[in-house]
Amino acid sequence: PISSSTSRVKSPESMREKLIRDGLEPTLQNALAHEHDAAGVRLICPMVDDVYRTAELIRAIPDVTILREKDFIAYPKPNGYRSLHLIVSVPVPLKDGTELVKCEIQLRTTAMDSWAALEHQLRYKRDAPSNDAIDRELEVCAELLHETDLKMQRIAAQIAIFPKET
Ligand code: GTP
Ligand code: MG
Repeated sequence: PISSSTSRVKSPESMREKLIRDGLEPTLQNALAHEHDAAGVRLICPMVDDVYRTAELIRAIPDVTILREKDFIAYPKPNGYRSLHLIVSVPVPLKDGTELVKCEIQLRTTAMDSWAALEHQLRYKRDAPSNDAIDRELEVCAELLHETDLKMQRIAAQIAIFPKET
């Protein structure tokens, strides 16, 4: 159910900024104890169902513990952002024994990913104060994409119930 995946380790600069923003001393200990996205994985799925199916597959991995789940598909952010976020803890074998490492997994459909990429780009490129008209247009796009996602899901389900012609 996964069409592509990417991963990244947060850069020291951006982790430092995040810690300061969160009112914490920018130390390694604070980064590992209080932030959950030093390690990040993004999984892109064809359909909405695949997102939830993939989350269940992750849940079934014996060593992976799900610490937190945020369902921004069922409860999209006001700007229209949709994704399923899992904060997981994974045992990583290191030199001095096994350590539990937190990782943020973002699961979303191709449509949700294209929206998030555009929104991210606009947010960082826009040095002007926020533009309500653009924000509204983006939100409308998010809704249209979600409607399309659900329509495609229904089409896929219809295809699945027809026996293959031989
Ligand atoms: P940070 O946003 O990372 O400070 O932590 P948080 O605890 O608020 O987590 P949240 O689940 O809100 O967001 C975590 C990550 O999801 C972000 O770093 C982004 O990668 C992604 N994300 C969340 N909201 C948005 C959004 O509105 N637009 C886009 N493009 N990405 C988002
Ligand atoms: Mg946030």
